Amino acid sequence: MSAKPVRKAVFPVGGLGTRFLPATKAIPKEMLPIVDRPLIQYAVDEAIEAGIEQMIFVTGRGKAAIEDHFDIAFELETTMSGRGKSLDILGPTRLRPGAVTYVRQQEPLGLGHAVWCARDVVGDEPFAVLLADDFMVGKPGCLKQMIDAYNRVGGNVICAEVVPDEHTHRYGIITPGAADGPLTEVKGLVEKPAPGTAPSNLSVIGRYILQPEVMGILSGQEKGAGGEIQLTDAMARMIGDQPFHGLTFAGTRYDCGDKVGFLHANMAMALSRDEMADDVELIMNELLEARVEPRRAA
Ligand code: G1P
Repeated sequence: MSAKPVRKAVFPVGGLGTRFLPATKAIPKEMLPIVDRPLIQYAVDEAIEAGIEQMIFVTGRGKAAIEDHFDIAFELETTMSGRGKSLDILGPTRLRPGAVTYVRQQEPLGLGHAVWCARDVVGDEPFAVLLADDFMVGKPGCLKQMIDAYNRVGGNVICAEVVPDEHTHRYGIITPGAADGPLTEVKGLVEKPAPGTAPSNLSVIGRYILQPEVMGILSGQEKGAGGEIQLTDAMARMIGDQPFHGLTFAGTRYDCGDKVGFLHANMAMALSRDEMADDVELIMNELLEARVEPRRAA
């Protein structure tokens, strides 16, 4: 089937990042680095790899560092060039002129509201949504895997992952239908079900390919779980009218909305870097030994 191409991606980056205070008092949580790149850079790189041409950031107050990150830094570049230093390291921060748009979400009314704020820029075409907190490591990247699936089945494709039963209340949860390899038909969706009430433990992870009709549903501004306008609720209303699938991504997800998940991602990525892996491994082993030794002595 020939599905309409996905050219635009929405990055909701308006959140307050309270879980990482005080680090995120003056800098956006999306600018926290995994080794030496901010989280948002990984998400943008993933989108570019998947063929996305237009990045739409839904920002809020205090998020200007994201705009600066994806801009030319004249003083920095002039100084580096003057010292004979290569600017290659800055390459991924240089988005094609005109390939980035910023819209503001004036009030934190929920993920659905953030996506809806991008409606005029998205227009009448399918689009992707990437939540930078969900740091996805795979080859090809998560969104590329999803686009490949979308090109076969069309409609809406969301990223899905099995989570432990005791975590289902933190996620959007899928009522699964027929499965075909990594693709599962989505029969129902519920946002953050109360413990013990989840229809499955297949959760929604922060990557979506959605049809533009979702914007019309979101304009109803209906509030759901936590009193917020939920993307999950709007998606649930499209089930039955359009194909809807969950894709279990081949790769690893790190929950960088959580401190331990964020540290996990940093350790894993450091160990994947040739120039530092040996040193980091040594340090990790020393730290573990130091933790184990006192216990042995006791
Ligand atoms: C959001 C979505 C939720 C999804 C999750 C994935 O929740 O509302 O459906 O499962 O992202 O990370 P949040 O993490 O913003 O609370």
